Amino acid sequence: MKSQPTICVRDPVGADTTRPSIARVYDYSLGGKDNYAVDRAAFDAVLEVAPGQGEVSRMNRRWLRRVVRYLAGSAEIDQFLDIGAGLPTVINTHQVAQQENRNARVVYVDNDPLCIAHGRALLEQNENTHYVCGDLLEDETLLENPDVADYLEPDRPIGLIVCGLLQHVADGLDPAGVMREYTRRLPAGSYVAATNFWDPADENPESHVLARQLEHAFTGLGLGTGWYRTREQQLEYFDGLELLTPGLAELEGWWPPGPPTRPQLPEERLVLGGLGYKPLPDPSRILPR
Ligand SMILES: C[S@@+](CC[C@H](N)C(=O)[O-])C[C@H]1O[C@@H](n2cnc3c(N)ncnc32)[C@H](O)[C@@H]1O
Repeated sequence: MKSQPTICVRDPVGADTTRPSIARVYDYSLGGKDNYAVDRAAFDAVLEVAPGQGEVSRMNRRWLRRVVRYLAGSAEIDQFLDIGAGLPTVINTHQVAQQENRNARVVYVDNDPLCIAHGRALLEQNENTHYVCGDLLEDETLLENPDVADYLEPDRPIGLIVCGLLQHVADGLDPAGVMREYTRRLPAGSYVAATNFWDPADENPESHVLARQLEHAFTGLGLGTGWYRTREQQLEYFDGLELLTPGLAELEGWWPPGPPTRPQLPEERLVLGGLGYKPLPDPSRILPR
């Protein structure tokens, strides 16, 4: 794992109004109010390329809600670690999980101080919900972070959520290697849920062009991160895990919420999501296929 201080210290965008932050740009894309002109300018550059990019963020939130409902309900996961949780928005992970199981424990983590402040004020609504400052890339993993370890039982399955996060981790920081280490340390029976921007490359040359344009708008024109990676690259995030049906899929095709009400936008087809399972030693465990 990387040995570097957490970005809470290294790169405290937080409430700095002169630089866009990932969390505030995402908040703006969702129609939130916790953002500044610099964030709006960064996302407006993206909207020039893909006017429906706000729909992409909302689609991502719908996927997150579906996967958490599945995990807390059908899969009976009762402890969650949601890394890169972002600013509070409408319907957050703990609300979905605790609707299924009111004793479900949720630990949110982000490296952005503004998320910590807002998250603690708005999301810590009960003794089973906590918002911790931490970085995905900390030494070892966040599973060993004392603030996280205080709330999660290390020997029981965990639902690890990394939605919309690895697309903001540069290649040089080895996002696949980071995820392999998390998977290695997670207890058997755990799940990993991830969504990320997708470059379909040869799978769809027309969409590939849009993905390249979007990546340039995110990384070159303002925010500085937001990489579109191929399916093969993203499959590496699930090394050591069994991907549940339908595998790594476009978000609206991953256990879709119901019949579509309109055709999908091209930009909405540039995100993949998957749910991986770390098998128990007991092969009699029935895994939905
Ligand atoms: C696009 S938002 C996604 C929010 C939420 N997970 C979702 O999918 O709706 C990404 C979040 O990851 C956080 N983040 C980025 N790099 C991180 C890192 N290395 N460690 C922890 N959080 C990080 C950002 O501050 C931001 O709040």
